[in-house]
Amino acid sequence: MKIGILISGRGSNMVAIAEAVSDGVIPGAEVAVVISDKSKAPGLEKARDLGLETVIVTRKKRSREEHDAEIISVLKNRGVELVCLAGYMRLLSSDFVRVFPNRIINIHPSLLPSFKGLHAHDQAIEYGVKISGCTVHFVDEHLDHGAIILQKAVEVLDEDDADSLSKRIIVQEHAAYIEAVRRVAAGEIEIKGRRVVSRGRGDAVNG
Ligand code: GRF
Repeated sequence: MKIGILISGRGSNMVAIAEAVSDGVIPGAEVAVVISDKSKAPGLEKARDLGLETVIVTRKKRSREEHDAEIISVLKNRGVELVCLAGYMRLLSSDFVRVFPNRIINIHPSLLPSFKGLHAHDQAIEYGVKISGCTVHFVDEHLDHGAIILQKAVEVLDEDDADSLSKRIIVQEHAAYIEAVRRVAAGEIEIKGRRVVSRGRGDAVNG
């Protein structure tokens, strides 16, 4: 399965996925391309160091649909079947989601549906939750909304601020993203309504 990874920044989740692929942890997978909408994303250099093809597709002054169309064509030209958003900071157009139905996944640093959007760690600290974590989910047209593939919990400590919490969550993110991509690539899961279940299970879900 050819994977395309979209980034906007640091790219640590991209590196985790790429290393898992090259270590054989995600059998049958190949990272075909890393695309960034930011020309100065630090993750681009990391991708090149890993020998991955990188493509920069900046927004310029185009509409979301026009920008996405160029990204879609880069992905299609390389035969990408699974798109991983890894710190990609733009909402996808519905065209994009339609072209890759249930084939786009994202990671978010909170236990969704809590703390969607930007600054999830600050939101968690400010709200005072005792447990936060990360969520890997399929992408639909709505922000941080699609069906959840897996979540990992992280305790929020009394002395935590957003920075210290994010440092513990990111470790779990890498493990969660690798495991989620492995499950999707292996065809181990299926989507039943909002529920992502192991294939052949959960028949009672949604009647
Ligand atoms: C991660 O916390 C991810 O959950 C969020 O953006 C951050 C990206 O980090 N969507 P990195 O670029 O993968 O290091």
